[in-house]
Amino acid sequence: MRRDDLTALTERFPGVVDFYGMITTAPSMIEFFERVRRVARTDASVLVRGETGTGKDLVARAIHALSPRAGGPFQAVNCALLTGDLLASELFGHVRGSFTGAVRDRTGVFALADKGTLFLDEIAEIPIEVQARLLRVLQEGRFVPVGGTEPVQVDVRLVSATHEALRLRVEQGRFREDLMYRVRVVPMFLPRLADRVGDVEVLTWWFILQQNAFGLRVVDKVHPAVRAALVGYDWPGNVRELRNVIEHAFAIGEGSTLTLDDLPPELRGVQPQRRPSDGPDELPDRELIVEALRKTGGRKAEAAALLGTSRSTLWRKMRELGLR
Ligand SMILES: Nc1ncnc2c1ncn2[C@@H]1O[C@H](COP(=O)(O)OP(=O)(O)OP(=O)(O)O)[C@@H](O)[C@H]1O
Ligand SMILES: [Mg+2]
Repeated sequence: MRRDDLTALTERFPGVVDFYGMITTAPSMIEFFERVRRVARTDASVLVRGETGTGKDLVARAIHALSPRAGGPFQAVNCALLTGDLLASELFGHVRGSFTGAVRDRTGVFALADKGTLFLDEIAEIPIEVQARLLRVLQEGRFVPVGGTEPVQVDVRLVSATHEALRLRVEQGRFREDLMYRVRVVPMFLPRLADRVGDVEVLTWWFILQQNAFGLRVVDKVHPAVRAALVGYDWPGNVRELRNVIEHAFAIGEGSTLTLDDLPPELRGVQPQRRPSDGPDELPDRELIVEALRKTGGRKAEAAALLGTSRSTLWRKMRELGLR
């Protein structure tokens, strides 16, 4: 199915490249993939930087798949999802009885990733108290499980990802400078979707072909107004947002042409309805946000429109409230 989609896509866009699930025609991306190939051959710690939805996850997996460690394990941890103690135990494991709830020994991902690759996603969020431990294992290749005494030796290649500059975190005193140098031996920047000329159209068709394969609606034309709206949009959620927009179009629209009516409001240039009490900078509260996200199936762009606020405000507010 995927192969067929790719063949159909190549008919429309002859220069299209599929690099470990990343579809593109943009020279900046093709250059990026070349760098991935080269760095993958080494054991250097890579820091993948890029806005949300640009493909950091796919890059981390590609690095592993292209590396001499490909036959070994690939382990991934999101550093933003766990608090200090739990993250330390996730990374390094713990011994039974080392804290309440530690009813048996647990192997951490550093041990599980031995001879393979460990992907630390959202590394900027790693609690400061875990950073010293992480630094130590990167320097010495050894760590002691939480509550343990015996060091464990591991051979792990580290790939990390962040959507914000670690330097900024260092300046705020929230990230150790020595750790920053360890994790970003090779920094790699993924370009925003809006900056990759041509990719909006290529990926639009890529996702259309995937949706067509379900057979509920088959689209073979994109209205010029839709094309203009898609190309002119800023794509803060990058490729993930574009995929969601196409899914949205297939969920609510019908017929063989993708029309403006199929698009979510922010792409149609429709002004969201404000509740009368809302000032321009007034932020919606938690309940309203959760409700809006529930109604829109978790689509932030639509939820923001429902709430009558901008997406950036909604994202900021969700972050403040710890909503994901
Ligand atoms: N170039 C691409 N071609 C096809 N699909 C892509 C491409 N880039 C990203 N995607 C898809 O977009 C979605 C988001 O990608 P991914 O999870 O790798 O982004 P991310 O940078 O890790 O985002 P976040 O910072 O939110 O974790 C995934 O479904 C992925 O398959
Ligand atoms: Mg990711």
